[in-house]
Amino acid sequence: MSSAFRPDALAGKTVFVAGGSSGINLGIAQSFARAGARLALISRDPERVAAAAATITGAGGTAIGMAADVRDYAAVEAALKQARDTLGPIDIVISGAAGNFLAPVVGMSANGFKTVVDIDLIGTFNVFRASFDYLNKPGASLIAITAPQGVNAMMFQAHACAAKAGINMLVKCLAMEWGPAGVRVNGISPGPIADTEGMARLAPTPEMEARYKGRLPLRDYGSKQDIADAALYLSCDNARYVTGTILDCDGGSKLGDASADALKTH
Ligand code: HXC
Ligand code: NAP
Repeated sequence: MSSAFRPDALAGKTVFVAGGSSGINLGIAQSFARAGARLALISRDPERVAAAAATITGAGGTAIGMAADVRDYAAVEAALKQARDTLGPIDIVISGAAGNFLAPVVGMSANGFKTVVDIDLIGTFNVFRASFDYLNKPGASLIAITAPQGVNAMMFQAHACAAKAGINMLVKCLAMEWGPAGVRVNGISPGPIADTEGMARLAPTPEMEARYKGRLPLRDYGSKQDIADAALYLSCDNARYVTGTILDCDGGSKLGDASADALKTH
């Protein structure tokens, strides 16, 4: 039995990370490589994804990077096949590709809304659906990277809120359908995470960052390692009886506004 707390917890495992060329997803990939896993990364930009894989091989790990857009089912399936053929049957899939921008609904075209839903929600369907034939079953673990927006409505985030809510329900439906095959399906909902493109877009100034932190029960951003640790837990036998859940790793974001200003209204 493997333990999430052993340094070689993922020795011999093959991991496929969609959206693995930067940020939270690359942090998971690098952490999993340190735990002994072989990594296959995809993202749209061939140079970015090759550079991301090189950070892992440069540190002595095993990784391949492939260019594929999660909106293109055939491209995703081809990447999964190449990952399986090169690294072995896939034990763990992380679906974390996403797009986001702040915009009110009246400042958002139909294509702007559709673009985010296509990348986040349809992309997660494509990655998980296409992975099924390439998984090491029983025992595989699938993890979607969702967000507090999937539960809490947020201004200027209609596209991301709708997409992440859809992901949360997709996780539960797949957990029901694929549990009998020995495939667990879960989500991780990160709160605001430091040094990421996501927070650079949502809180681009120091003032906005301070306001964000001031509303959080834990009063600080999380780190990429916090999310990698949550993903490691869900990927190991320690979580063998956990499926269909969304693990909030969010400093209490989901609970709502915990700022002093919010208290004044009570
Ligand atoms: C309004 C916008 C816009 C903006 C793009 N669009 N940016 N509308 N305000 N700021 C519109 C465009 O005008 C276009 O509509 C449509 O969206 C598609 O734009 P494209 O540039 O053609 O799309 P594409 O090249 O596919 O790029 C996708 C993208 C881009 C999402 C727009 O920003 C991207 O590639 N993002 C990936 C990186 C990223 O976003 N990382 C952060 C993930 S963080 P029209 O009608 O003109 O054709 C995250 C945080 C969640 O998800 C939670 C945090 C707590
Ligand atoms: P990021 O660095 O921008 O990562 C997004 C990744 O997705 C990149 O590797 C990007 O690479 C890839 N990507 C985007 N569109 C794609 C597509 N169509 N097909 C394939 N790959 C695509 O963002 P991040 O802030 O770390 O966020 C990562 C995940 O965490 C996302 O799911 C996000 O919603 C979630 N999240 C983030 C935060 C936060 O605080 N940052 C909070 C909650 C949830 P290319 O550009 O090369 O395609």
